[in-house]
Amino acid sequence: MTISEVSTEDRRNSFYELIRKDNLASLWQRLHSLVPKSPLTPVVPVHWDYDGVVRPHIFTAGEIVTAEEAERRVLILENPGLPGSASITQSLYAGLQLVLPGEVARAHRHSQSALRFVIEGRGAYTAVDGERVAMSPGDFVLTPSWRWHDHGNESDEPMVWLDGLDIPIISFFDAGFAEPGKAITQAELRPPGDSEARYSNNLLPVDWKPGDRNSPILRYPYERSNETLSAMARGGDPDACHGYKVRFINPATGSTPMPTIAAFIQRLPESFETAAYRSTDSTIFAVVEGHGQTKVGSHCIEWKPRDVFVVPSWHPVVHRCETEATLFSFSDRAAQETLGLWREARHLNGEVA
Ligand SMILES: [Fe+2]
Repeated sequence: MTISEVSTEDRRNSFYELIRKDNLASLWQRLHSLVPKSPLTPVVPVHWDYDGVVRPHIFTAGEIVTAEEAERRVLILENPGLPGSASITQSLYAGLQLVLPGEVARAHRHSQSALRFVIEGRGAYTAVDGERVAMSPGDFVLTPSWRWHDHGNESDEPMVWLDGLDIPIISFFDAGFAEPGKAITQAELRPPGDSEARYSNNLLPVDWKPGDRNSPILRYPYERSNETLSAMARGGDPDACHGYKVRFINPATGSTPMPTIAAFIQRLPESFETAAYRSTDSTIFAVVEGHGQTKVGSHCIEWKPRDVFVVPSWHPVVHRCETEATLFSFSDRAAQETLGLWREARHLNGEVA
C-alpha cells in the first residue's frame, strides 16, 4: 500500500466517522447489499422433526404452563438465520400451539392475520367473531385481521396446530394493535359451520358484498382438499415442478384467502421427483402425508408426516418422494403479488423457463 493510498483510506474513514455523528452514511459502501442482483436472504433452510424432537417439548410445555397462564401456549419456530426475531422467515411467524382437553385460550383480537393448520387431535375449536369452527388434522383455518378469536378443547385428546401469522410484516409497518376480549370465551353468534355453508358451496348469499379482502370461509376442511388432489392425481399429468398443487382462495375474489398470506396444498405422486424451482416467497411447508426428501440448494431435508420445514427465497428446491406425499405450504406470496414483486423460475430439463 502506498503512502497516498493510506492517506486516502484514512481520509475516507475519518469522513465516515465524522458524518455518522450527523446521522449520515455513505451509500457507496452498502449499495450492493441494499440493491442485490438477486435476493440475498438471511433465512436458512431448516427442518423441525415433529415426533422425534418438537412434540416432546410441546407436551413438556403443557406440564409447566397452563393455556390460561400463557394466553397462547405456543412454541415459536424460529429460523436460525434470524436469531431472536421470533420469525420463521423475514415476513412470517410460525408456532406450534397446544390446547389440552378442557382448556380454553382466551378471546382477543389483533391486526395480525393468522392461519391454523391442524397437526394432531380433532374436536377442538377456534371461535372467530362468534362462530365456532371445529378442527381436524389437515384442516386449514383462518383468523383474519382484527377478528375476535378464542380457542377451546372440549374433546378428550390434546390438540396441536401450526399457527402462521404475518407478525413481522405488521411490525415492519408499525401497524400493530391488539385488544383483549371482555370475556374469556365469545358468545356464540352463529351456528357452527355457518360460514362454510354460506360461502363454500360455489354459492354466495344474493346481496352479499365483501367488507374486506379476507375470505368469508373460516375453514377449508382436509376432506375437501384431499378430494380435489385425489381427483387431479387420478387424472394424471402432474406439473413438473409441483406435482398436483392447488391454492386456497377467497371465493368472492378468486384471490388469496388473506391479503398478506397465500396457502397451498400439493400432492406428489409415488416415486416422483420435481424439476428444480424457485420463487421469491420464502415458504413454510408442513407435511400432511408421506415420506420424502427436499433439496434446498445443497441442503437436504428428510421429512415425514407432521414435520415442518422452510425453503428460503430464491433457493432452488427439488422435492422427491418414494410413496405418495401431501404437503401444505404458506408464504407471503399474497403480499408480494399485490406489490408486484413476486417472481418464480422453473428449471425444466436444465433450462430456466
Ligand atoms: Fe391471536
